Amino acid sequence: MENEEIIEKINSFPYWISQFDLKGNLTPVPLESTIEGTMQRKSYFLDPLIEYCGGSLEGKRILDIGCNSGFWALQAIEAECDYIVGVDGRQMHIDQANFVFEVKEIDKSRYEFHCGNVFDLDFRQYGEFDIVICLGFFHHMSKHMQLLDKISQVNKDLLLLETRVTRLPGEYMQILHEPIEHYANSLDYTLTMCPSKKAVLSMTKQFGYHSIIIEPQPAHKAAVENYNTNRRLAFISSKISDLSDFPAEIKEISRMSEFTEIISMSINLLLRKLGIKK
Ligand SMILES: C[S@@+](CC[C@H](N)C(=O)[O-])C[C@H]1O[C@@H](n2cnc3c(N)ncnc32)[C@H](O)[C@@H]1O
Repeated sequence: MENEEIIEKINSFPYWISQFDLKGNLTPVPLESTIEGTMQRKSYFLDPLIEYCGGSLEGKRILDIGCNSGFWALQAIEAECDYIVGVDGRQMHIDQANFVFEVKEIDKSRYEFHCGNVFDLDFRQYGEFDIVICLGFFHHMSKHMQLLDKISQVNKDLLLLETRVTRLPGEYMQILHEPIEHYANSLDYTLTMCPSKKAVLSMTKQFGYHSIIIEPQPAHKAAVENYNTNRRLAFISSKISDLSDFPAEIKEISRMSEFTEIISMSINLLLRKLGIKK
């Protein structure tokens, strides 16, 4: 593809969620801070997963749920995965992902992107997957058990799930609302549910997964506010692999940490009620 054509195509999209270097042309992102945030997300959950898999994703078939413009799919390809299937409910994101992969000259025999609501797609038509990644998606929906059931049907072993979480101790789903017009949000219902940490552990367990929570490190927290405030976490779930040697600090949930969370939430709520904090 000629340079002018690349620039024209980049500009033909009303927005980009991730920054790509497409033969020297950078896709524009709404906030500069998202670039560092994305890099720190990679360092937080994807780099340890690649290390855990032996330093590359060679031999792995991967399913990316809510793939958007293909940023994480591209990371998986660059980590040498065999094959990646990306699904997203907005056609524009699928067009972006195909464009990115075309400019990056990724062999077409290594990927496919499909547009559709994940609840209407039968993942089984795409085969089985060693790894499923579900990033920034689990809090933009309300049918969590249904999604995990669908994932589990095609997932042979590992699930990487990164989601916003409610800080409530115990197993809870917090009901939230978001406009479906926003490009990164839910596709169908404005009502969404945000799980607590223990709810994620419990729901994944129902489908035969053993799950651990990765503890975000100071650099991750500095770049992503929700990591800093314990409102966003990455979970690694496994059906077969032994996660005891997963190369990252694992977050433990103790009575004390749950108690501290309640105190901190209560203080925040009070400060907001008093108008001291936004
Ligand atoms: C917040 S973005 C996350 C993108 C990317 N995974 C990341 O972490 O940077 C959520 C994506 O999920 C897609 N999406 C939301 N609900 C969906 C649904 N029910 N089915 C398919 N895609 C959906 C949106 O179009 C959007 O691209």
